[in-house]
Amino acid sequence: MAAINAVTDLSTVGKVSVITLNSPPVNALSADVRDGLAGAFKQAGADPATNAIVLICDGRTFIAGADISEFGKPPRGASLFEVQTAIENSPKPVIGAIHGTALGGGLEVALCCHYRVAVPSAKCGLPEVHLGLLPGAGGTQRLPRIVGVEKALEMVTSGQHVPGKQCLAMGLVDELAEEGKLREAAIAFAEKVVAEKRPLRKVRDSNEKVEAARGNTELFASFRKANARKFRGFMAPESNIKCIEAAVNLPFDEGMKEERRLFTELVTGTQSAAQRYSFFAEREVWKIPDVPADTPQIPVKTVGIIGAGTMGGGIAMNFVNVGIPVILVETTQEALDRGIKVVRANYERSAKNGRFTMEQVEQRMALITPTTRLEDIANVDLVIEAVFERMEVKKEIFTKLDAFMKQGAILGTNTSALNIDEIASVTKRPQDVIGLHFFSPANVMRLLEVVRADHTSKAVIATSMAIAKKIGKIAALVGVCPGFVGNRILAARRRAAEQLMMQGTMPWDIDRVLYDFGFPMGVYAMSDLAGLDLGWVKAESKGLTLRDRLCELDRRGQKTGKGYYDYDENRNPTPSPVTEGIIKEFIAKSGNTPRVAPDEEILERCLLPMINEGAKILAEGKAIRASDIDIIYQAGYGFPVYRGGPMFYADQIGLAKVVERMKHYAAQGADFVPAPLLAELAAAGKRFQDWRG
Ligand code: 3HC
Repeated sequence: MAAINAVTDLSTVGKVSVITLNSPPVNALSADVRDGLAGAFKQAGADPATNAIVLICDGRTFIAGADISEFGKPPRGASLFEVQTAIENSPKPVIGAIHGTALGGGLEVALCCHYRVAVPSAKCGLPEVHLGLLPGAGGTQRLPRIVGVEKALEMVTSGQHVPGKQCLAMGLVDELAEEGKLREAAIAFAEKVVAEKRPLRKVRDSNEKVEAARGNTELFASFRKANARKFRGFMAPESNIKCIEAAVNLPFDEGMKEERRLFTELVTGTQSAAQRYSFFAEREVWKIPDVPADTPQIPVKTVGIIGAGTMGGGIAMNFVNVGIPVILVETTQEALDRGIKVVRANYERSAKNGRFTMEQVEQRMALITPTTRLEDIANVDLVIEAVFERMEVKKEIFTKLDAFMKQGAILGTNTSALNIDEIASVTKRPQDVIGLHFFSPANVMRLLEVVRADHTSKAVIATSMAIAKKIGKIAALVGVCPGFVGNRILAARRRAAEQLMMQGTMPWDIDRVLYDFGFPMGVYAMSDLAGLDLGWVKAESKGLTLRDRLCELDRRGQKTGKGYYDYDENRNPTPSPVTEGIIKEFIAKSGNTPRVAPDEEILERCLLPMINEGAKILAEGKAIRASDIDIIYQAGYGFPVYRGGPMFYADQIGLAKVVERMKHYAAQGADFVPAPLLAELAAAGKRFQDWRG
């Protein structure tokens, strides 16, 4: 075997040249890889002793795409286009041998091979859309030529990873190889191609499938319409669609030009910058500087959940979904039955939608053991307390747990606001106590705030992060403070919105601006959904706040058909004259002259306090890094992914500008006084994303 460069080898088996890439972790198309491929294809092409070429990768995967970390940097080495041209124009048949994932540029390289062989566990996809991009190396032009326009549209706009068998069925691969025998199978396939004198098949020349869709404008119109909600705000899906249209309507080379034009537009834009940042942020969030990856973990084989309400039931589903048995505790049989019934109904709904079978529903339900005796959880490895938010109640439960739980069990609380150090203080084992803040609905929402208290041990933190990953969450480690990270920042936005409202801007105008920014819903629509009466006590209500007044009128949100908004029978909201009347009364009483803030001001006054609160959180060490806050906001609060998150958004505006705008609103009070860290970074011309406490 001859080394072409540090990441590429070329060897010969009989009359077949085998090019092997080995560039961990994922064989991304870095400059080294491209150089290696260019050199290897040149050499193999010129070798008179061979008559076919196999391209295969070592390690866990085939090429998983372009090297994302190279985007935005000056180009180095051979271009991807040169490499692809060398493959496609090779005088000898080239066979791509795929295991792991052939993604993005990786699949685009494979599409330039004349044939493809894969193992059944391999997956192929064009996930660029998740990076705010489109496949920029011919993927949008070649894919529909193989799989047809409908499937190509689906693949490029969803970024789905298509399993090997399906790839075979749609013609994306030509043959499936036995697992673990890919190399031999690809070589045998190459020999067969030579023996049978099969043509050097170039995908670019195969026009049948794209021509079949030519003139079919309805196909694209209905695809756009069907996905309008999903794509809202994102630029990349539309650009991907336009490229597929180009594949249908233009000759290959013209289509390639259109792809290049749209790719360049996206790759230099802010959305893709935000989405690429998010890709790395989602991986960074798991890394905890003082809890290294090799920290010993506590095996979690069983879980006890205290509270079978909406939260407890949803949390239980996460664990049974991955086969971990749960003991679910409630104080009364009636509440327990109700909780179990809700879990079952959720599963049955999923079964009805075809997500799994009734047999799987029963398997999952069988993993839940309901009980009304708290002591029944004495031997579980992890407890999650999910009762209502009263410190006395939580303390009482943790005192009991401390008395009977087996030593070494993790004692988690799902509190969303209470001081976990105070909860831990009633136990003799505060090192085992941790916050596990799930978001509602807990079986659906991806975010988990793992809250580290003063004495939480590293093993408990490492285990909590690992278990979060296992149940499919994205977890961020945060510190104890009111509202932790997510709700603390949300409270800042809420204060800003309330202030705007009490100065004369109506809730629906505030919501509209936030929705247009890209949030799935605004502040008040969200309140109506959650219920205005969360924490509201009728007997204590004195009509002093807008919420009191609305709840007293039974305007408790969507569930009563009215809240800030009025709702029709399909839960469509309309602005409520009743709400508006009450707001105006409050304004009149306060002596303020009502003033409707312009949209730009609404947006700035809602977002600047969030950014400022984020800066305080960082300075206090309650989040590890700015990108963790952004991940929390994307995964738990609907911050538009294409804007990165509040901290990235601030970086993009420029922190000096952020400070300047805050000063502009100085009269609005404390939330508009720049936090010291923000002021300091702004003065130094730095960004949140470069800051490391
Ligand atoms: N470029 C640079 N680094 C990458 C990378 C890429 N394309 N893909 C993965 N990595 C890095 C990750 O950042 C991570 O680094 P870390 O260990 O330092 O945190 C490491 O590789 C391992 O990645 P994961 O933790 O994600 O490993 P998994 O095994 O869970 O997943 C994967 C593997 C499915 C390949 C996943 O990494 C992935 O989805 N990668 C991105 C694939 C992609 O988007 N490809 C398209 C790129 S854009 C493109 O090709 C443009 C072209 O059209 C011109």
